[in-house]
Amino acid sequence: MLDPALTEAEIAALHQRAAEAAQNSYSPYSHFRVGAAILLHADTKQDGAIVAGTNVENASYRLTSCAEQAAIAAAVMQYGPAIRIRAVAVVNLNGATCMPCGACRQTILEFATPETAVFYPTAEGKTVSTTMAELLPAGFRLNAE
Ligand code: THU
Repeated sequence: MLDPALTEAEIAALHQRAAEAAQNSYSPYSHFRVGAAILLHADTKQDGAIVAGTNVENASYRLTSCAEQAAIAAAVMQYGPAIRIRAVAVVNLNGATCMPCGACRQTILEFATPETAVFYPTAEGKTVSTTMAELLPAGFRLNAE
C-alpha cells in the first residue's frame, strides 16, 4: 500500500506533542530537555495515533533513556507489538540542534521503513526533514537477507 504524504496538520500535531512531552523532561544532569513524538500508521489497531515521550535521566548517567525510546516503549505498551512508525518528531527546549542519537536510530528502525520521516530541530530554529534511510542506511536487522 502506498503511504500517502504527511499532511501539514499531521506534522504540526507531531511537533506539538513532542514539545508538550519535553515539558516533562527529567534531565537534572544535562538540563537538555527533549521531547519526541511518533506518528503510527493508520490501521484498525494503531489508528494513526501519536505517542510522545521525554528523556529520563539517572544519577548513574548510563541508565538514561532518550525521548525517542520512551515514546516507542509507550507506543508498544498502548498499541501492541505490531506498531509501525510513519514519522518521528524530535524537539528540545534548549534551542539546540538535536538529531536522534545512534541508539535511538536503531530503536526507531525496529518499527520503521526506510521512508519513515524524521523531523529534528537545528540551532538556527529550523526543522530538518529527513528519513530513516538517510539517518541509518545500514542498521542492524536480525535475519536480514
Ligand atoms: N537525548 C534524547 O532524549 N534523545 C536523543 O536523541 C539525544 C539525546 C537526551 C539524553 C540525555 O538525557 C540528554 O538528551 C543529553 O544527552
